[in-house]
Amino acid sequence: MAQTGNFKSPARMSSLGQGAAPASAGAVTGGKPREEGLNGVDFERRGFLHKVVGGVGAIVAVSTLYPVVKFIIPPARKIKVVDELTVGKASEVPDGKGKIYQFNEDKVIVVNKGGALTAVSAVCTHLGCLVNWVDADNQYFCPCHGAKYKLTGEIISGPQPRPLKQYKARIEGDSIIISKA
Ligand code: FES
Repeated sequence: MAQTGNFKSPARMSSLGQGAAPASAGAVTGGKPREEGLNGVDFERRGFLHKVVGGVGAIVAVSTLYPVVKFIIPPARKIKVVDELTVGKASEVPDGKGKIYQFNEDKVIVVNKGGALTAVSAVCTHLGCLVNWVDADNQYFCPCHGAKYKLTGEIISGPQPRPLKQYKARIEGDSIIISKA
């Protein structure tokens, strides 16, 4: 049977003891207004999400930048300082030639003159370029600004303030050994 009557009529509502308050008035019975409560929840959630996103962003940034920084700034190399060192084979420095070797923190040029080895720092005392041995002129020559040095490192001419540092070199068996002077 079809129901008759107006369920929303004021008479019916008053008979139910209701003031006909609209159901969507936006208030939560016995608590905070609905909007106010949701805003609080949203604020807390947003704050949490910001922290998570910020943390993930920081991790990604650090993991990306760390290898780049490590590449740009290589770790300081620790060179073990020794009194003497086998640097190569005697055949590497034939008569009339010079060859540069690493010795401690210096680069040392070993020159063979008639079977006798001489060793001096190859680092020009002017601005640090590496010198060459020019056997025809019997001298070291710096290609940067023209400094010239004798076989034993003394200054011949040029802008350099000091002679080349001296070392010792000898052959043992088939090996070249450089030592401090
Ligand atoms: S660096 Fe050798 S002459 Fe200037």
